[in-house]
Amino acid sequence: MTRFIIARDYEDMSEKAAMLFLKQINKKDNSLLGLATGSSPVGIYRNLIKWHSEGLLDFSAVKTVSLDEYVGLGASDPQSYRHFMNENLFKHINIKMENTHVPNGLAEDLWMEVSEYEKRIEMLGGIDMQLLGIGRNAHIGFNEPSDNFATNTHVVNLTKDTREANARFFSSIDEVPTKALTMGIGTIMRAKKIVLVSYGENKADALYKSFFENTNPRVPGSILQYHADVTVVADKAAMGRILSEGKDINCGF
Ligand code: GLP
Repeated sequence: MTRFIIARDYEDMSEKAAMLFLKQINKKDNSLLGLATGSSPVGIYRNLIKWHSEGLLDFSAVKTVSLDEYVGLGASDPQSYRHFMNENLFKHINIKMENTHVPNGLAEDLWMEVSEYEKRIEMLGGIDMQLLGIGRNAHIGFNEPSDNFATNTHVVNLTKDTREANARFFSSIDEVPTKALTMGIGTIMRAKKIVLVSYGENKADALYKSFFENTNPRVPGSILQYHADVTVVADKAAMGRILSEGKDINCGF
């Protein structure tokens, strides 16, 4: 089931989504959180850091697994997702670094890395709450439009659209890696709860197609219609097409 929370703007979206993580950690202090990168989650992390500094959140028992990583980039590379997570969240809170897991984009044997990553998630007890953004082409993690839904963590070739969208973080598109490691659709779907955040009108079609058209691996986000507990927190612009087509949505606060 999908519940929609409509936010006024980016700040409001970030606060509302961060509240869901606050509740999760307060309910289960050793939660395994699935984390995402991109511009959408940054505001959530800012709220979590603030609440931690105010003594409202304790991360000492929290464990995290990240959705994805570029192949060829390591922690010291400012464009790597490990670096992103360290800078935008981990180094500002009291999480134990050994409890944070990001696929290793520098692994010599990538196939071994993805299969071990999948096993690690299972050994950690499975994801309690997974944070997702969504790409313009409705990719989730780096699960690109494809002929079928990839089950487990795997190596993917990034599409031109995704590389173009992510080029803003690099000095040129040629520097955007062509491959990535990503949790699979199955990995994501096994999370007990999913929180998807999205803002801006360039995501309006991706959101609409994911939740109001038939499920199709060409629209990776559309698999989420089959998950039992998804909360979409999106601003009015990202909700634009859903709202203008008068879709009946199950609204949160
Ligand atoms: C990248 C990440 C995705 C993210 C997407 C959207 O491709 N791999 O996990 O959802 O970007 O990012 P943004 O939130 O910046 O639009």
